[in-house]
Amino acid sequence: MSGIERLDGLFEGGEICTDEGCAVPAPSKKILPGSTIGILGGGQLGRMLAHAGSRMGYRFVTLDPTPDSPCGQTAEQIVADYDSREAALELARRSDVITYEFENVNADVASMLEKESYVPQGSALLYTTQHRLREKRAIEAAGARVAPYAEIASLEGLREAAARLGLPAVLKTATGGYDGKGQWVLRSEADLEKAWPEASRTGTELVLEKFIVFDKEISVIAARRPSGEIRTFPPAENEHVDNILHLSIVPARIPGSVRAEAERMAISIAETLGVVGLIAVEMFLASDGTLFVNELAPRPHNSGHYTMEACRTSQFEQHIRAICDLPLGDTALMTPVVMVNLLGEHMDTLMDRIATGCNEAEKLGVTPKLHLYGKAEAKNKRKMGHFNVLAGSVDAALAWIEESIIWRV
Ligand SMILES: Nc1ncnc2c1ncn2[C@@H]1O[C@H](COP(=O)(O)OP(=O)(O)O)[C@@H](O)[C@H]1O
Ligand SMILES: [Mg+2]
Repeated sequence: MSGIERLDGLFEGGEICTDEGCAVPAPSKKILPGSTIGILGGGQLGRMLAHAGSRMGYRFVTLDPTPDSPCGQTAEQIVADYDSREAALELARRSDVITYEFENVNADVASMLEKESYVPQGSALLYTTQHRLREKRAIEAAGARVAPYAEIASLEGLREAAARLGLPAVLKTATGGYDGKGQWVLRSEADLEKAWPEASRTGTELVLEKFIVFDKEISVIAARRPSGEIRTFPPAENEHVDNILHLSIVPARIPGSVRAEAERMAISIAETLGVVGLIAVEMFLASDGTLFVNELAPRPHNSGHYTMEACRTSQFEQHIRAICDLPLGDTALMTPVVMVNLLGEHMDTLMDRIATGCNEAEKLGVTPKLHLYGKAEAKNKRKMGHFNVLAGSVDAALAWIEESIIWRV
């Protein structure tokens, strides 16, 4: 079905049918263009949501403590701390619907917003995905596999779990981790003793996971609207450098059967958790073809940025459609693409290349589309932007990235 046909049906109501059959519509509100969408968080994900939604006729207001935030440059901004109740109430007053661009929303603020405003994603989804143990149980309840794991409360417990699960293993904080922060890879008995003081000092619950020797990391983003309609985006093959996403390669170089299973798992998780909006499902693909779900994110995801130019509907437009209970858009991939992140340390070279107007891409037959997030300071490892490199094949896109000097630092 083309994007234009979907747009024709944009304002049609009624029961929605998925491949699994007709779902009974959940009580929900249709949020029509002209309405104001409030975004908790003013980072790049909020910015790209506001870009996609503005085009559809929505207005945006964001709450973020940093003045002139990436989202604040494209929306109205309330400058205040995320856990300020007054600021959250102000956001509720100015918005017809509220969404968030990160999952570590203060639980009090989330439930208060739910009472004072319309938050279709609900605070229950946040409660689950904010905590690795709750998240793993929810993934298992959806019939998907996770790496063998154990809850850890003491050094003795860590020793026991390591003996049971085997080494290597990864010790993680249950809450608050991102980009590999709050994680310790344990390869030997001595590593347990070494990691324990630092890990226990974090004061949060801990979880030990078996280290999965994976062939590839992939992710699937699914969108679900209150009426039950679900659509998935094509799986991305993800490569990390220093635990930070570097590349998303699409189509992922995986067998069709793995692709189908990954999409089925994402759909099952979206259904079981009653997701509204997007859910990103990160997975490990082991060499024997087994898929393990690593973690979830109930929001747009870095590994879904490729959809902006490569799919008929971007993840950002899809999120807006889902929370506004509009028909979901066609997710078909239109071209091979590689998304490559731009971190603070890449910015000087990038700016030189832009200033000199270099044009090797065209010679290689690839089209790099640049997205920058408007962040003032190019700190080391900070995500500043990304390229979606469109090409006739992912190999051609990878060759351009490989030849470019931008990522040599
Ligand atoms: N159990 C595991 N086995 C192998 N690699 C892992 C495991 N857990 C995490 N990793 C590696 O560390 C990266 C970051 O871990 P993740 O749990 O996704 O945390 P976050 O993205 O929140 O920092 C993963 O993308 C993967 O490369
Ligand atoms: Mg992750």
